Amino acid sequence: MIVVTGAAGKLGRLVIEELLKTVPAKEIVAAVRTPAKAQELAAKGVTVREADYTRPETLKTAFAGAKRLLLISSNELGVRRIDQHKAVIDAVKAAGVERVAYTSLLHADTTSLGLARDHLATEDYLRASGVAFALLRNGWYMENQTESLAPALEHGAILGAARNGHIAGATRRDYAAAAAKVLTAETQTRQVYELAGDEPYTLSDLAAEVTRQSGRQVVYTDLPQQKYAKELEKFGLPKTMAEFYADCDRGIAQGDLDDNSHDLSRLIGRPNPSRRMCGSGAFFRRHHRAVRRRRTRACRTSSEH
Ligand SMILES: NC(=O)c1ccc[n+]([C@@H]2O[C@H](COP(=O)([O-])OP(=O)(O)OC[C@H]3O[C@@H](n4cnc5c(N)ncnc54)[C@H](OP(=O)(O)O)[C@@H]3O)[C@@H](O)[C@H]2O)c1
Repeated sequence: MIVVTGAAGKLGRLVIEELLKTVPAKEIVAAVRTPAKAQELAAKGVTVREADYTRPETLKTAFAGAKRLLLISSNELGVRRIDQHKAVIDAVKAAGVERVAYTSLLHADTTSLGLARDHLATEDYLRASGVAFALLRNGWYMENQTESLAPALEHGAILGAARNGHIAGATRRDYAAAAAKVLTAETQTRQVYELAGDEPYTLSDLAAEVTRQSGRQVVYTDLPQQKYAKELEKFGLPKTMAEFYADCDRGIAQGDLDDNSHDLSRLIGRPNPSRRMCGSGAFFRRHHRAVRRRRTRACRTSSEH
C-alpha cells in the first residue's frame, strides 16, 4: 500500500494521478486533512483517510498497513511546520512503513533561501529516524509564475528582484511524476534527488516567452528586494508572504534555484523544457481575451456616463 499525505493539494492530486497509471487504486491511500475535499479521489477508487499533521491520532490510523509513503511538506511555513513533519515521521516509524519519500527543497543543504530551514530540519529528523528514505528536493514550481500571469498580461510587466538569476523550474506534473517513480521503484537507488528543470530561465526570459506566446509586450522590471516586497503588498499579499516571495527572488539572484543535475528528466524519462512553462499559447490567448473584454466593458461603461 502506498500512502500520499497532503493528497488533496495541487501536487498531491497529481501524484495520485501519476500513481494510478501503474498502481491499482485499491493499493493507494490519499491521506488528507479534510476528507470532504477528496471526493474526486474516492470516486477513482482510491482509499481516502483523514490525516492531519497536527493530530497524531489521525496519522496512526491513516498510515496503518502502508509500505511506502510520500510526505508532502505542509504549506504552513514556520516552526509549526517542522513539528507537523516530525509528527508524520514519528507516525511513519510507528506504523512500520518501509520507505518514505519527502518533498524537500532544491539544494536544501547549501541554499541561502530562508525556506530551507524547515526542510533541513525535516531531512535531519528523517535521517535520524532509521526509516529508509528518499529526499525529493523539488525546485521551483513554474506554476508560481504561470498562475499569476494575468496581472502581468494586464500591465505588460513582470516585477521581481531576481536580477538575471537562473530558475531551473519545472511543472508540478513533472515533480509528481518523479515522486510516483520513486514510490513505485522496486529498489531504492538514491537517497537524494535534486529535482529541477532542464532549461533554466531568467525572469527576462519569462517575459520574452510570455510576449512571444501572448502577442502582448511584457517586460521584466527588476526592483530592489525591499521595494519588490512592498509592491507585492500593494497587490494585496500579506506582509509575510510578500517578504517570502522577495526572499525567493533574492535567492534566485544568487543562483539558489539553478541546477544542472538533470535528475528530474532522468527519473521521469522525458525532458522538461521550460517552454512548457506556459502550457501553450492558448493559455495566453484566453487571458489576453479576458483582459480585452474587461477593458472594452470599462470603456463602454465610462462612455455611457
Ligand atoms: N517548490 C515550490 O516552488 C513550491 C511552491 C509551492 C509549494 N511548495 C511546497 O510543496 C507543497 C505542496 O505544494 P502544493 O502546490 O500541492 O500546495 P497546496 O496545494 O497548498 O497543498 C498543500 C497540502 O498540504 C495540506 N496540509 C496543510 N496543513 C496540513 C495539516 N496540518 N495536515 C495535513 N495536511 C495539511 C493541505 O491540506 P488542505 O487541502 O486541507 O488545505 C494541502 O492539501 C506545499 O505544501 C509546499 O510545502 C513548493
